[in-house]
Amino acid sequence: MTSAIRFILNGEDIVLGDFGPTETLLDYLRLKRRLTGTKEGCAEGDCGACTVLVGRVTGTGLCYEGVNACIRLLGSLHGTHVVTVEHLAGKDGRLHPVQQAMVDCHGSQCGFCTPGFVMALYGLWLANPTPGRQQIESALQGNLCRCTGYEPIVKAAEQVARERPSALFDPLERDRTQIMARLWAIRAEPQTITVEKDGARAIVPASLADFAEILAQEPTATVVAGATDVGLWVTKQMRLLDPVVFINHLTELQEIEIGETGLVIGAGVSYARAQQALVDDIPALGQLIDRIGGGQVRAMGTIGGNIANGSPIGDMPPPLIALGARLTLRSHSGRRTMPLENYFLAYGRQDRLPGEFVEKVFVPRPAEGGQFAVYKISKRRDEDISALCGAFNLDLDADNRVAAIRIAFGGMAATPKRATHVEEALLGQPWQWSTVSAVRDAFDEDYQPLTDWRATADYRSLAAKNLLTRFFLETAGAPAQLHRFEPEDA
Ligand SMILES: Cc1cc2nc3c(=O)[nH]c(=O)nc-3n(C[C@H](O)[C@H](O)[C@H](O)COP(=O)(O)OP(=O)(O)OC[C@H]3O[C@@H](n4cnc5c(N)ncnc54)[C@H](O)[C@@H]3O)c2cc1C
Ligand code: FES
Ligand code: FES
Repeated sequence: MTSAIRFILNGEDIVLGDFGPTETLLDYLRLKRRLTGTKEGCAEGDCGACTVLVGRVTGTGLCYEGVNACIRLLGSLHGTHVVTVEHLAGKDGRLHPVQQAMVDCHGSQCGFCTPGFVMALYGLWLANPTPGRQQIESALQGNLCRCTGYEPIVKAAEQVARERPSALFDPLERDRTQIMARLWAIRAEPQTITVEKDGARAIVPASLADFAEILAQEPTATVVAGATDVGLWVTKQMRLLDPVVFINHLTELQEIEIGETGLVIGAGVSYARAQQALVDDIPALGQLIDRIGGGQVRAMGTIGGNIANGSPIGDMPPPLIALGARLTLRSHSGRRTMPLENYFLAYGRQDRLPGEFVEKVFVPRPAEGGQFAVYKISKRRDEDISALCGAFNLDLDADNRVAAIRIAFGGMAATPKRATHVEEALLGQPWQWSTVSAVRDAFDEDYQPLTDWRATADYRSLAAKNLLTRFFLETAGAPAQLHRFEPEDA
């Protein structure tokens, strides 16, 4: 057992044994290292002002991703390379081509958001030197600029893509091999790390087996994967957590297995990695991930965290339930597997015993020839939490009758929940407009949603019914006999 984490900050090797379990990377950078180029705006992962890159060695080499330093906890950095905006310009002060493009294209007015934009664009350039407009916009989803406007910033990104600057200018490309060697050296002999400050502990297990053991001994510990939920408990609710067990580095939780009937996704797989696999396999689910947070949140947040937190408005559970996903929980004494829908018992209560953690989820592919769709309804397209999220998984027989259907919604009840009454009403019926319009009322038996600041109960009910209509129209093939629903119909 050791009592310090090790990582690289820009060019410097860091050994850190003096930090609290809830200390953020942003506070460390700004307050302790005076690296004040990284800004604090919202402190909740929404504005991107605090964007830094975090590099880690993966199966495919050294991979850098933009993350939100404001909600990234220090304990999650062992064995990584943290890169801040101060690292970009040359020693002679010459700007990095990404910075120069922001100057050339007038991409900055007040400048507060600018370092975050530079880092987001830099991360994009490293991953994809010649992005198209859509990729640029996607890379900027997690960055908020209130005064320049996005067009000059997008133009800056396009300039970099057009000019294809030599990688020789770039510190990360230039130093890639030696950074990798230094990171390998840190990870060479994994040991469980415990850092204690003011009586509170940050624990970094050496392996999955160690994690299971630690959780058996410390069943009330807070598990932190991507910290895109837990980070906000710290920065917004000022919660003191002790002990905190960090699991985002455990490669055993980051596996994706692509099998004949579906995919097994490890609990520690980030949204970004899951998206790559799902876009090929279950495109509707892959595309949904583009609507979750910005790139920084998708690089950090995990599929396991989105399930484990038991939120009624998490975006992954409804489609996973509609697909018939099965969840595997693990503890030091073994594993158990259950249909994902059984995991959610009541608001804030899940079927997870003390000492258990989410290990993986099996996601079956929709049936051959089946139809699957997921719809997220939120006030903004990007960077917004769902008012409701509905998923439909339909299998028709040769006579165009409903042979199997699973419908699940988030935002409609205290947990993500199946629409079993609607499903029963549809089963065996011809897939036609008269069937679909006749079952709308069954939604009221399945769901009695709440009114909150995202949507009223009436809005949610009507939108859920209309999503079934939309799914029908998208899957029926032939133009439907449409009835316009007036408010009194609802
Ligand atoms: C700016 C922003 C935008 C967001 N947008 C969306 C959105 O559009 N849709 C959406 O659904 N969510 C959204 N979220 C919420 C968040 O990204 C997800 O809930 C995320 O999936 C949580 O995963 P994590 O790894 O970050 O979890 P963490 O914050 O690390 O943990 C969350 C909870 O799960 C527990 N936990 C994590 N992993 C495990 C495990 N393997 N076993 C047991 N317990 C575990 C933790 O103890 C904690 O209780 C957003 C968050 C932010 C900050
Ligand atoms: S300060 Fe706004 S995302 Fe971190
Ligand atoms: S330049 Fe002022 S917020 Fe973007």
